[in-house]
Amino acid sequence: MKKRILAALLSSAMVVTLLAGCGGAAADTAADSGSDAAATESSDAGSAAAGTKVGVSMPTKDLQRWNQDGANMEAELKAAGFEVDLQYASNDVQTQVSQVENMISSGANVLVIAAIEGSSLGEALDMAKEANIPVIAYDRLLMNSDAVSYYATFDNYKVGTVQGTYVKDTLDLENADGPFNIEFTAGDPGDNNAGFFFNGAYDVLKPYIESGKLNVVSGQKTFEEVATPTWATETAQSRAENILSSYYSDGTNIDVWLCSNDSTALGVENALAANYNGTYPIITGQDCDIENTKNMIAGKQSMSVFKDTRTLASQVVKMVGQILKGETVDVNDTTTYDNGTKVVPSYLCEPVFADANNYKELLIDSGYYTEDQLK
Ligand code: BGC
Repeated sequence: MKKRILAALLSSAMVVTLLAGCGGAAADTAADSGSDAAATESSDAGSAAAGTKVGVSMPTKDLQRWNQDGANMEAELKAAGFEVDLQYASNDVQTQVSQVENMISSGANVLVIAAIEGSSLGEALDMAKEANIPVIAYDRLLMNSDAVSYYATFDNYKVGTVQGTYVKDTLDLENADGPFNIEFTAGDPGDNNAGFFFNGAYDVLKPYIESGKLNVVSGQKTFEEVATPTWATETAQSRAENILSSYYSDGTNIDVWLCSNDSTALGVENALAANYNGTYPIITGQDCDIENTKNMIAGKQSMSVFKDTRTLASQVVKMVGQILKGETVDVNDTTTYDNGTKVVPSYLCEPVFADANNYKELLIDSGYYTEDQLK
């Protein structure tokens, strides 16, 4: 019965507003480490929260960011008065499917899912739809299903353009003669975000690749050729080792290694440390993981893109509250994210450029890391 009322509330809530940037409450939360702002949010989400359970399904504990995402979601949802069922799926698709199905059968009222593989949750999503349980795709889009109600993420294409623009500006590609040597390492083909990151970066650099100012020495420049299944550091490392021994062992310098995120950048950094003696290249990344931030400070990684997981968690908690109260749900993009079945109304948070010059302000002053964690 409760679910039917919820479904009715939901259909009246399928109106969307267009807002710019991340919500004010979300930004406040990021600035003061979560707890106070979460408490303020709780009065909003509160009336809908009592006795309401939110299932939160995260892909893996292996990568730092998902631990932070999970912990932030749990803390904020609990502060808002929700019961939380948080599960990590060890990067195993079947485990994630079973965990989501268990959340449904144990009475979750809303599901928040960061998929391992966007297209592999079909059955569990059908079950959610059958039970009228709204689903928010978290960070990664859930593909080929009409059971997805909303999507909350960072502007994924923009992450790539921030990386590409950094390379363009640092090499002064408009004015410098070049040519400069470049290689690409992208993300997991099963993750819808990975193509957006790669395309965002590639689109900025494409004119210079076409004019010959940037030379992809390995010749590997399509997403399929440069992708890294499951974003694994080891896979990125062994591909980088192969490229270095096949194309750079004669003393050819590499000027740029465009990596889509920090776990893959780490693999490339490991490969360079053991297999390359030339001038150290520009290396890009994403997430500001601890190891990579240390590498930025040490000059082994040039930049990263900071996606404050507290901001995304706050935004999702807000959306959960709005869904359950039958209110208009904040979204700011209703065109970009087509999951193959529908265009999913989305809320895109802003990614932020990070490097050795601004990491203190971004990461330490904001309470994201302590100084000790980066030693
Ligand atoms: C996330 C990135 C992360 C990558 C690997 C992507 O979906 O958006 O922040 O680096 O997955 O976990």
